[in-house]
Amino acid sequence: MAQSDKTAKLSFGDTELELPMYSPSAGPDVIDIRKLYAQGNVFTYDPGFTSTASCDSTITFIDGDKGELLHRGYPIDQLAAKSHFLEVCYLLLYGELPTAEQLEDFEGRVTNHTMLHEQMMNFFRGFRRDAHPMAVMVGVVGAMSAFYHDSTDIGDPWQREVASIRLIAKMPTIAAWAYKYSVGQPFVYPRNDLDYASNFLRMCFSVPAEDYVVDPILSRAMDRIFTLHADHEQNASTSTVRLASSSGANPFACIAAGIACLWGPAHGGANQACLEMLREIGTPDRIPEFIARAKDKNDPFRLMGFGHRVYKNFDPRAKVMKESADEVLDLLGIENNPTLQVAKELERVALEDPYFAEKKLYPNVDFYSGIILDAMGFPTSMFTPIFAVARTVGWISQWKEQISDPQLRIGRPRQLYQGATTRDYVDVENR
Ligand code: ACO
Repeated sequence: MAQSDKTAKLSFGDTELELPMYSPSAGPDVIDIRKLYAQGNVFTYDPGFTSTASCDSTITFIDGDKGELLHRGYPIDQLAAKSHFLEVCYLLLYGELPTAEQLEDFEGRVTNHTMLHEQMMNFFRGFRRDAHPMAVMVGVVGAMSAFYHDSTDIGDPWQREVASIRLIAKMPTIAAWAYKYSVGQPFVYPRNDLDYASNFLRMCFSVPAEDYVVDPILSRAMDRIFTLHADHEQNASTSTVRLASSSGANPFACIAAGIACLWGPAHGGANQACLEMLREIGTPDRIPEFIARAKDKNDPFRLMGFGHRVYKNFDPRAKVMKESADEVLDLLGIENNPTLQVAKELERVALEDPYFAEKKLYPNVDFYSGIILDAMGFPTSMFTPIFAVARTVGWISQWKEQISDPQLRIGRPRQLYQGATTRDYVDVENR
């Protein structure tokens, strides 16, 4: 924990408090309110945690006004251009870029854990064929704690390490099998001579009757999607993982909780919702109608893929994703795809509209990732599972950091209670 170098004065009624403040290595100063209740008998009120730091962390930093995202200090655009997903995983997990030997060792360890316990196949088969792959992932990842008992003791650093590697290694297999099950095709086993992204694409698109030969441009685009989604500091799903973990829950249960949270359309579900919205718009001439709806206070409709809680500037991941979208569509020869035309025109119109400019609503990473995944042949229902595959390393890194923190306490927010005060029970015949 950073040392207190200044204080904040808080006065209310007859009470005057001096609260410690900390200066982070980047970002705004933080007021330490941990003793506020004990010393002042008040709580703070911050639904949505817009002004509350829930932990101290050294993993990821976002400057939303500048549109900057750093992993262990390295800008995301440099990582997307020069690095690759497994190297970024190493960086997030262990804090530094690996040497060549460390990377080889890490890749070997991940590769050795890509297969699932054979009995887990029966677990998949228990779901309905039309189950959403995210529902299957929540269930299967939660069930990992029933299959891998030897890595559930969170007090043992070795077991924590094994659980981390298992989750990163097995998540593509789980997502691919959820997909295969939904389309009625046989499960495809991982192949350890392929890189992480190529292996995932092959497990999704290969069938026993015809192998899937992975195009390096598609594999690179998939790897970039994984890299760009790897971590995003204390977002809703990561905070969910941390809150679940604060009770001492095992890593598989915590990551299952993160997947459940990611599923929501305001978070990881936005890429699916965005592509569905682009299809619903259908043709560029209908864009004004949807822009008008997004601006109408009486209409709950929002432009999916626009806006972000933290970025009040262009999402730096969206810039890289846009380049990738151009590369993939060029390779597949589908520049004239109607959904893409709607997306490009919608982006242009929204960025010129004063409503979106004033509210600092820019396209986010999900605006472009859906277009790429659609072009690769993924159904919209697979968009969020792919996000979950990528984010697993972020969840795991944050979980490991939290577990090793000697100050760890169970997460237990307070509330502003607005309900009835004490009243006596009334028997049913007298109500
Ligand atoms: N379309 C239209 N108006 C919007 C949008 C949008 N996409 N997003 C925000 N606004 C408006 C709100 O109506 C609100 O207007 P008001 O101040 O007049 O009431 C203002 O902008 C601020 O919105 P909030 O909901 O307070 O912003 P918040 O930070 O809580 O929400 C969120 C961020 C959830 C991402 C929001 O922008 C949204 O719903 N976007 C669409 C869903 C989406 O793309 N999510 C992906 C996020 S990225 C990720 O998870 C990887």
